[in-house]
Amino acid sequence: MLFSKPPKVDVARGDPLEAEAAAVVVPVRRKDGKPLIEGIAAKADKLAGGILTSAVESGDFSAKACETLKGYHGGRVIVFVGLGDASEKSKLLDDIRGAYAKAVSLLLDKVESAVVIVESSDGLEAREAVVGALLGSYKFDYFKTKDNKKRKLSKLSFTVSESVLEEALAIAEGVYLARDLANAPPHEVSPPRLADKVQKLFSQLKNVNVEVFDYNRLVEEGFGGIVAVGKGSKEKPVLIIVRYSGAEGDPIALVGKTMVFDSGGINLKPSQALFEMRSDKAGGSAVLGALWTAARLGLKVNVIALIPAAINVPSGESYLPSDVIKMWDGTTVEVTNTDAEGRLTLADAIAYAAKALKAREIVDVATLTGAAAVALGPLIAAIFTRSQELLEEFRRAAEVTGEKVWPLPLEDSYKAALEKKAPLADIANAAMRYGGAISAALFLEHFNHGKPHVHLDIAGPGIGLGGEAVSQPAYWPSGIAPGWGVRLLYEYLKAKAGK
Ligand code: BES
Ligand code: MN
Ligand code: ZN
Repeated sequence: MLFSKPPKVDVARGDPLEAEAAAVVVPVRRKDGKPLIEGIAAKADKLAGGILTSAVESGDFSAKACETLKGYHGGRVIVFVGLGDASEKSKLLDDIRGAYAKAVSLLLDKVESAVVIVESSDGLEAREAVVGALLGSYKFDYFKTKDNKKRKLSKLSFTVSESVLEEALAIAEGVYLARDLANAPPHEVSPPRLADKVQKLFSQLKNVNVEVFDYNRLVEEGFGGIVAVGKGSKEKPVLIIVRYSGAEGDPIALVGKTMVFDSGGINLKPSQALFEMRSDKAGGSAVLGALWTAARLGLKVNVIALIPAAINVPSGESYLPSDVIKMWDGTTVEVTNTDAEGRLTLADAIAYAAKALKAREIVDVATLTGAAAVALGPLIAAIFTRSQELLEEFRRAAEVTGEKVWPLPLEDSYKAALEKKAPLADIANAAMRYGGAISAALFLEHFNHGKPHVHLDIAGPGIGLGGEAVSQPAYWPSGIAPGWGVRLLYEYLKAKAGK
């Protein structure tokens, strides 16, 4: 089903090497370049007839991160997996996620259940081991029919505490949701259908309320940016607002670009640039995933997700280059390029969050510019903010989750170009080819009405662009959007809740 869930999980009881399951995953650490065959690894090695020792002696296995070795014991598969020997915390966590993902992915089509051994039952390393295993179990096979649909694995038991398991599961659920949505074919999640699905899904959660502004309401209330971008499609745009009230006080607003498809509109994209634009909704997907995780865990934060969903296509009703739009906050925008559409939908949502919803801070997440992807590539998102504090908060979150962010400057003098290009209106939606990511960020900033604001341009990692050229983490699905940002946003919210 679209909006799939991770496999069933529980806490492993008794001796994990003698459990009922058809497979066991056994971690092997490494020190000074050599595998450590001790503790549970030594025990498993013995049961498997010394295969680990032999493989290490012959040089076939050295416990590097993600390296695997299969053995057998009493009708069970034993998957030994190397955890590597990273000494730096964030690299170690990433290796752990990758290793467990890789080990579990070997079992996906082969067994129905597995016990996954995690060395210590508590703490971040334990949580990320479970997260890795669950993310490695992800497959987008909803549209595959019989032969291709081979997944067997439906139950995983972990040697971790209940609370670690619960948190990891909620995180994985958020990422699954984001992956399904970011990769869904456009018409499966047209704006009205997406609104229905979000309403159904999120109404299961406590302290969550979903409100949908339909097209008529958007027109009536003057959401000129969202209306202009979305009106060319028969499937009209919506603004979905999901509130999670886990605490008192002004909310944190998470705004996610949700271009269900971006053809460029009248400024149509060239053929080869169209296909991946089904994932131009990766920002909104991440926001929904993070809100799901936060609400499932009852985080003590007050969060509002704003999801302006639209389809940007050319038609007789589309907005036109040279149109002037009146935005929700009254700003007038001269449309210099209908392919700079994301910033128009986001600007309305950001202004609404700042003024109508009284957000205390605003984080927007968007596959906003090709320029950001060109600058930072497939694995790194651009982060823009005037707040040193927020920058640090996101850096800390990224250290934990491995979702890399790198700051780009909000160069004031580039703002003038946006004004210069608009002889009729306050500001143009696009001005410069050079510094395109910065120019887009400055456009968004115009609408934040002075609220603390973080803009994440996830054009590269959000879509999984160019993934074939670099080595992506083993816990990412190959060739499709990885649900980037869910864990980062969750970690950021969790830190807020702790304050
Ligand atoms: N969704 C695209 C940005 C994008 C392009 C993301 C490629 C990932 C891969 C966005 O709406 C867009 O088309 N941006 C234009 C802006 C330009 C017209 C000012 C771009 O980046 O070329
Ligand atoms: Mn575009
Ligand atoms: Zn776009």
